[in-house]
Amino acid sequence: MVNQSGRLWQKRGTFVMAAAASAIGLGNIWRFPHELGTNGGSAFLFIYLACIALVCLPVMLAEALIGRVGGKGPVQSFSVISRLQGKSFITSSFWPLIGLMGALTGFMIASFYSVVGGWTLAYLLDAIVQGSTTTSEGSQVYFSKLESRVGFEILMMLLFIGLTAAIVYQGVVKGLERFLRILTPAILIMLVVLMLYSFSVGSPSQGLAYMFSPDFSKLSWGIVLKAMGHAFFSLSLGMGVLITFGSYTPKDQNLGQMILLVGVLDTLVALLAAAVIFPLVFAFDNLQVNAGPSLVFVALPQIFSVISWGGVFQIVFFALLLVAALSSMVSIVEPAISALENYFGWKRAQASHVIFGLVSALGIGCALDSAVFNTMDFVSANVLLPLGGILIALYVGWVLKPELYTDQVGLPTGLLRRIWMAMVCVVSPACIGWVLYNGLFNS
Ligand code: TRP
Repeated sequence: MVNQSGRLWQKRGTFVMAAAASAIGLGNIWRFPHELGTNGGSAFLFIYLACIALVCLPVMLAEALIGRVGGKGPVQSFSVISRLQGKSFITSSFWPLIGLMGALTGFMIASFYSVVGGWTLAYLLDAIVQGSTTTSEGSQVYFSKLESRVGFEILMMLLFIGLTAAIVYQGVVKGLERFLRILTPAILIMLVVLMLYSFSVGSPSQGLAYMFSPDFSKLSWGIVLKAMGHAFFSLSLGMGVLITFGSYTPKDQNLGQMILLVGVLDTLVALLAAAVIFPLVFAFDNLQVNAGPSLVFVALPQIFSVISWGGVFQIVFFALLLVAALSSMVSIVEPAISALENYFGWKRAQASHVIFGLVSALGIGCALDSAVFNTMDFVSANVLLPLGGILIALYVGWVLKPELYTDQVGLPTGLLRRIWMAMVCVVSPACIGWVLYNGLFNS
């Protein structure tokens, strides 16, 4: 199917850059270290890695394939495919709902994501203007004040949403492709610089030992669910981002290889971020690794305020966090925008106004009430994304006719193909379902 609006990435490799820019975000740098810290360190890490390799990668390929075959946004791709296959109940009515559920999940994620994006902007601006976010009362006080200065918090959040809109507004090629191709390498460079710094001033041996020496005594179904939910979140999997980006990808590009590369890059960045943060946290033994969401916003600034060159590296760190957050936020809203363009024939500007208006309203809800924030976070990452993953796998395994995609370059062949099929037909959906069931009802 031709991508009807003619929207295709212009340069080779943009799929990798864009999908990596989407995957690498607050999830890797803010969420992963604090989840690792509160859920037993390495035990969480090993479950997380297993989820990525065994469950998520096959589903990622399935998701991107739907976009490439359908050639449209996350709702319409399913309708296009059902038209190609000949309608029947099982192929037509139900499946576009996956796309709708994805758009809804996107709103939920965008709302709390933009609050954290706003915090990041506030920290970066303060680090530049004042040289530090640590007042004489300490960084904990700064963070609590930021949360209680609701007007300022909301202003920063709206600014973050505005920056996202400025990129999205310019379209698939001039906006997304142009920016995402620059932002991803910038993230990698900043991370490596920070890691060298952290290793030289912090305590790498303790930090790395905490990350890699396994302690399975802490394991529970709750932790397994969190690790799996986080794997989905971190890979931007299960809500249609990859369907959308897959639809912008020309058919001569190797989807399988590109997906693998995105998975590897995303995991590498999460590990690098943890390798920046934990050596610093362990070098100051009065700080707690299990601080939770405030780990990056309280513990780190406190450390930066006392170590040499801390002021400069604080700016680098929050610039990194901002770039990572921004390039992911773009992808969180893109499926909904693409769906509105396809469904109502709206212009990008029109679709953007509606989407960013809604996201701002929901974001204000999250900023005002931390219960709303936490619910949005838990329900989207730990319930809706895995559910989306199950449905996507079942769709590609059982409904999508192989004739429609067998000629695609870069899909696994031979034995690898059979393994992938077994994964998407049975193994991945069963594992995800099992973890969801136990994590929600048995922990
Ligand atoms: N993966 C991003 C992160 O790690 C967040 C993100 C972007 C996302 N797009 C998404 C999460 C789509 C789920 C679905 O920060």
